[in-house]
Amino acid sequence: MSETAKIILDGKEYELPVITGTENEKAIDISNLRSMSGYITLDTGYKNTGATTSAITFLDGEKGILHYRGYSIEELAEKASFTEVAYLLLDGELPTQKQLEDFNNEIKIHTLVNEDLQNIFKSFPTGSHPMGQLISMMSALSAYYPKSLDPNRSDEQKRRTMLRLIAKMPTLCAMIYKKRTGHPFIYPNNKLDYVSNFLNMTFKHVSDEYEVDPVYVDAMNKLLILHADHEQNCSASTVRLVGSSHASLYASIAAGVAALWGPLHGGANQQVLEMLEQIKADGGDVAKFINKAKDKNDPFRLMGFGHRVYKNFDPRAKIIKKACDDVLNKLGINDPILEIAKKLEEVALKDSYFVERKLYPNVDFYSGIIYRAMGFPTDMFTVMFALGRLPGWIAQWKEMTKEGQPIGRPRQIYTGNNLRPFVEINKR
Ligand code: ACO
Repeated sequence: MSETAKIILDGKEYELPVITGTENEKAIDISNLRSMSGYITLDTGYKNTGATTSAITFLDGEKGILHYRGYSIEELAEKASFTEVAYLLLDGELPTQKQLEDFNNEIKIHTLVNEDLQNIFKSFPTGSHPMGQLISMMSALSAYYPKSLDPNRSDEQKRRTMLRLIAKMPTLCAMIYKKRTGHPFIYPNNKLDYVSNFLNMTFKHVSDEYEVDPVYVDAMNKLLILHADHEQNCSASTVRLVGSSHASLYASIAAGVAALWGPLHGGANQQVLEMLEQIKADGGDVAKFINKAKDKNDPFRLMGFGHRVYKNFDPRAKIIKKACDDVLNKLGINDPILEIAKKLEEVALKDSYFVERKLYPNVDFYSGIIYRAMGFPTDMFTVMFALGRLPGWIAQWKEMTKEGQPIGRPRQIYTGNNLRPFVEINKR
């Protein structure tokens, strides 16, 4: 007999089904609780609420495990390319050599963006935040592909939208960088692979020769893979929620980018580097900043530390810390910021405040140091995160639409005034 849970409300017992995942995770299915009993469950911040079942990504926060479609993040980061992982997330299986070539070629067909989009870039003031621009660009794409607004279009048409997004994202991210520097845009070079093409569009100057450094390509592939999906996080849940109203994929992704921007989510990578710079400028006294982070009267938090689901270590941070050492060594860079980061980690991990709260470095703690070594300015870091996360967001959207999931619409417990008569303004 299948497992059930019993709940007693107002002296009456209700039996609820228990759902078990393939990694033996358990959930009580409360979807009929309100119709049976009049009760809802309350869980601000969804700390203990499963919003969906999903076959894309598995993570165990206690053990520090992360798998995409059953493959460990450690193996994927070591052995796969980013587009191979994108294929895996979208399709569910690793591609054969031929399937990957076809996928890469299909992406290459769509790398150009409409020239008119340059006018939108022109209208942004110099210095406007790259993430604000990226949100606008994701949404603007829908204007050029109006058929994407039809929620009932064929699977083939939906696939084309997914490919377009994956193909145009590096072009747009590189344009955002060029807008920032005031330099002319560089067109895609479809002889190059996905990551090299992005680096070329970003760092090549129109008049100069530019060879993409293989150290950069390896590092970027790794970073993008490590960011490619992370199950029902804030931005993926946003993509699903917006998509559940049958808004277009472009609109859903624009919303996901917006959710990612916040400093408690992907925006933390920018904040980490700014924090490390601040510590350096202040004389490098790590203990002083640890104390600030512990002080409940001080809003300062140790950025890049703590995670909603990882309570032992973040496996991505482990890989990135090593990659950070490797990349800086290969590039011959001695960055004092890395030493400050390592010292901060060492001191925090011995401090009872961080130990008791299970606060460890997360994916954002070391990634910015690599991006900085490659020449990216800090306000581009979260754009890099979005570039990596895009296949994950699309895979989450694809799964949700394929399963025909209902519109997302949480309930609430109302705590405001009870009904009262309106008082005319001259009598208030
Ligand atoms: N520095 C200092 N204290 C912290 C930190 C931190 N970075 N993170 C959590 N805490 C403390 C909280 O003050 C709280 O203490 P209390 O129990 O005494 O009140 C306790 O640890 C639990 O923290 P919550 O904020 O309740 O945990 P939650 O799961 O809601 O938040 C989050 C997780 C947002 C990641 C948080 O740890 C944080 O703000 N970290 C810094 C920002 C960051 O690095 N974000 C990136 C996350 S990874 C990603 O999204 C890609």
